[in-house]
This record gives sequence, C-alpha cells and structure tokens, in this order.
Amino acid sequence: MSEFQKNCTVRRVETLGCNLIRLTLEAPEIAGAVQPGQFVMVACGTNRDPLLRRPLSVHWADAEGTIQLLVRVVGRGTAALAQTRAGESLSLIGPLGRGFSLEASRPCLVGGGIGAAPLLLLAQRLAEQGLKPLVLLGAATAAEAHILQQAFQALGCSLALATDDGSLGHRGFVTELLSAQAAQADKLYACGPQPMMAAVARFGADRGIACEVSLETAMACGLGACLGCAIPDPGQPGAYRHVCKNGPVFLAGEVLWT
Ligand SMILES: Cc1cc2nc3c(=O)[nH]c(=O)nc-3n(C[C@H](O)[C@H](O)[C@H](O)COP(=O)(O)OP(=O)(O)OC[C@H]3O[C@@H](n4cnc5c(N)ncnc54)[C@H](O)[C@@H]3O)c2cc1C
Ligand code: FES
Repeated sequence: MSEFQKNCTVRRVETLGCNLIRLTLEAPEIAGAVQPGQFVMVACGTNRDPLLRRPLSVHWADAEGTIQLLVRVVGRGTAALAQTRAGESLSLIGPLGRGFSLEASRPCLVGGGIGAAPLLLLAQRLAEQGLKPLVLLGAATAAEAHILQQAFQALGCSLALATDDGSLGHRGFVTELLSAQAAQADKLYACGPQPMMAAVARFGADRGIACEVSLETAMACGLGACLGCAIPDPGQPGAYRHVCKNGPVFLAGEVLWT
C-alpha cells in the first residue's frame, strides 16, 4: 500500500460552526491512493508545537487531486489547524491504515458526530458503484446535522437523522433508527462514539448483517511504531492489535466491546 509524506498546499479553510472546520488541500498522491476509512497524520502547528501529528480521516478526495478533512476543534492541535490560512502548507503522512471494504449491495452507514467524517468518502465510492447508500446521521443539533446532510444528499444517499435535542429528525440516539431503517441492509458501516458502534455491532450480530466499524484511539505515530494505539484482540487472549495498522476499520467481530 502506498503512503506518502508531503507538504500540501491549503486551498481553503471553511469555518462551519459547531466547532467544525473543513480543510481543502492539494494532495494529489494521497487523493489518488486513499481508500475510504483511511487517515492522514497531520503536523498541526508551527515549529513542531504540538510535537505529535494528529490523525484525521480523509473526508473527501477527488480526481483533481484535492482532499478534504473535516475537523472538530477540541484541543491544541486542531485549534492550530483552525488558524491555518489558504496558501500555507501542511505536512501530511498518508493515506494510512486499513479502510472500509466496498463489498455491499444494500449498505447502511451510521455516523455519530464527527464520526461521520470518513463516511462521506465511503458514500462517494459506494455511489460510484451504482449504489444508493442509506445514511443514518446522529448529531447534537440541527445546525451540526445540516453541515453533513447536504453533502450526503448531493451523492444521492437516502438520509435519516437523529439529534440529541430533537431540533431535526428523531430525538435521541441515531441507533434508535436502526430497526425501522436498516433491517434490509446487507452491510453496516459505523463510525462514532464507542457505545454507538457497539449498538450497531449488536444490531448486525443479532440479524446476521456484516458490520465494519472505524475505531478511534489516541495515536502518537500512526505508523505501527509506538504501540500506543493497541487494543485487545478478542480472537487471541493476551494479544493486541494496533488501530493505526490493523485498523482503524475492523470487522465488528474483531473488537472486544466493553
Ligand atoms: C483514525 C482516526 C481518525 C480521526 N479522524 C478525525 C476526523 O476526521 N476529524 C476529527 O475532528 N477528528 C478525528 N479524529 C480525532 C482527532 O485525531 C483528535 O480529535 C485530535 O487528535 C485531537 O487533537 P488536539 O490536539 O486538538 O486535542 P488534544 O489537546 O490532544 O486533546 C483535546 C481533548 O480531546 C480528546 N481527544 C484527543 N484525541 C481524541 C480521540 N482520538 N478521540 C476522542 N477524544 C480525543 C483528549 O482526551 C482531550 O480531552 C480521528 C482520530 C483517529 C484515531
Ligand atoms: S499510533 Fe503508534 S503504533 Fe499505532
């Protein structure tokens, strides 16, 4: 699998509200190689502060060689990214990790909050296969849901929404939409908070529907070198797998749900 370390010119930085920004970068090598669900390690600040790169999923990639990152500003690294201006350059390593498989006929994508970020590229690739993905999107508020809603609709996806405050769609957890919406799916893809993914995994297991989940852990290197992203391997007691190398996408059965 190809991976690159590149200084990429920032084309656009959009402040979307809800602490979200969208970065558009010129990254032809990464755009050409990326599989949905893969991520890049981004050097966020100046003068190596913060020292460690931050992992971010590739949100979108196109044939013109641009990629997009959808970023929730939560701390020092992402705050530094929000200060980036068009014309500046960012150092990226990627695409990294194992992405989603595209084997599905009736795919259902379940995204919670910023977990929906890698699902847009997945929806794009599934749509290119002539499929019409069903997307269940969970967000805190209508304002947050709107940010992603339009992008999925532009790809021809069917959408069902849930918000914490009930300001758009179902009031409550996005997983409460599964029984009514996803019973006919033959593949579930989930990315979001751990309890959400565990519920999607359970739904799939109960009905014999294959399920892939994208996990998030703290990552210092993203390359399999620091072992900081280890998770227990349910298949081999005492053994560990590394989210950055073996994942971030796993079959639901490969994860020890707690
Ligand atoms: C494979 C992968 C893909 C990711 N894709 C995206 C993406 O597309 N968009 C996006 O906005 N974020 C994504 N993340 C999460 C992102 O990497 C973190 O939010 C970021 O590293 C935080 O850096 P910071 O310096 O801003 O915050 P820090 O100062 O490092 O931390 C601020 C707060 O955020 C918490 N935090 C840090 N990392 C994580 C994490 N991974 N999960 C949950 N809480 C965390 C810390 O515990 C702390 O409370 C991804 C993470 C992984 C592992
Ligand atoms: S982040 Fe260093 S080994 Fe996975």
